[in-house]
Amino acid sequence: MTTFKLYLAPLRGFTDYIYRNTFSGHFNGFDGALAPFIPTVTADRFKPSHLKDVLPENNSTLPIVPQIISNQPDDFINLAVRLFDLGYATVNWNLGCPFPMVAKKKRGSGLLPYPEYINDFLEKTVSSIPNRLSIKTRLGRRQINEIFKLMPIFNQYPLEEIIIHPRTGKQMYDGKTDLDTFQQCLDISVHRVVYNGDITDLKTFQDISDRFADIDGWMIGRGAVTNPFLPAIIKAGTDDIPHKVEKFRQFYEELFEQYRRGFSGPGHLLNRMKGFWTYFSRSFQNSRKIAKKVHRTQKLHRYLEIVDRFFREEAQWNE
Ligand SMILES: Cc1cc2nc3c(=O)[nH]c(=O)nc-3n(C[C@H](O)[C@H](O)[C@H](O)COP(=O)(O)O)c2cc1C
Repeated sequence: MTTFKLYLAPLRGFTDYIYRNTFSGHFNGFDGALAPFIPTVTADRFKPSHLKDVLPENNSTLPIVPQIISNQPDDFINLAVRLFDLGYATVNWNLGCPFPMVAKKKRGSGLLPYPEYINDFLEKTVSSIPNRLSIKTRLGRRQINEIFKLMPIFNQYPLEEIIIHPRTGKQMYDGKTDLDTFQQCLDISVHRVVYNGDITDLKTFQDISDRFADIDGWMIGRGAVTNPFLPAIIKAGTDDIPHKVEKFRQFYEELFEQYRRGFSGPGHLLNRMKGFWTYFSRSFQNSRKIAKKVHRTQKLHRYLEIVDRFFREEAQWNE
């Protein structure tokens, strides 16, 4: 029996409620998801549509924790209270987003070089919000040792958990994860730590979970969007799932249909699908060919022909 928990990582532009619900109708293995971040705005600019992705009626299939990106304690508190009123006992603070547009404004990983600011933010928010707080972070914005000033601060607050993606913001999503520094964070933390980063197959998971035997929470993003069977395979400890292409196709077709209904025009729909195929294609042999063809398409009807033909004639799962 497995005792660990698996969580779907937030991928803004991918793992929204439509994806999460469709995923849950076709695949198993995740115990919950962290929803992609909601940016804070001042109270007078707040719109109910900001909460659409996390409304309880849109999230009946997979339990979620909403995530907030902010450097303004008052706006954070305001949003956390709204989320509490929707039923969310825990909210997550994004301290990891690496995108320069975000980080330059001292949000996401852009806050990591400022431990005093973070301490101040936590002092103001933790005691004022009705929810528990969890944090998702990287090792630093530019340098891995930024985290060593932050872990002692995190230790002073009653946090729910800390999710660590062991890269710097500067690395974006490439280069090696730093497992030695992750180990050091584990040694320092008084909180539950969840590992996140580059779990792409069963072997990787087994190696990393052998190394960090005390960890009981794992978060997977790109690996699960690429191969949606992965969480179930990890939970089972073995990969004996038959007919993957057919099962994947059924999932894909429902996903397409749900986005077709949810999006306002073919351009949006096509862009969203192109994004998905960047990941989906990696699960198939000869992945570059289908990825290229999809990305070149400008017309939805042409896209549909390409994908239909791919599934009928070419698709072979990359075991
Ligand atoms: C397109 C994209 C969007 C992302 N959006 C978010 C987000 O909204 N909030 C967040 O905390 N992390 C976000 N991340 C980071 C992922 O949650 C995760 O930390 C990262 O991809 C590493 O995990 P993985 O190797 O399992 O994908 C995003 C990553 C990508 C590639």
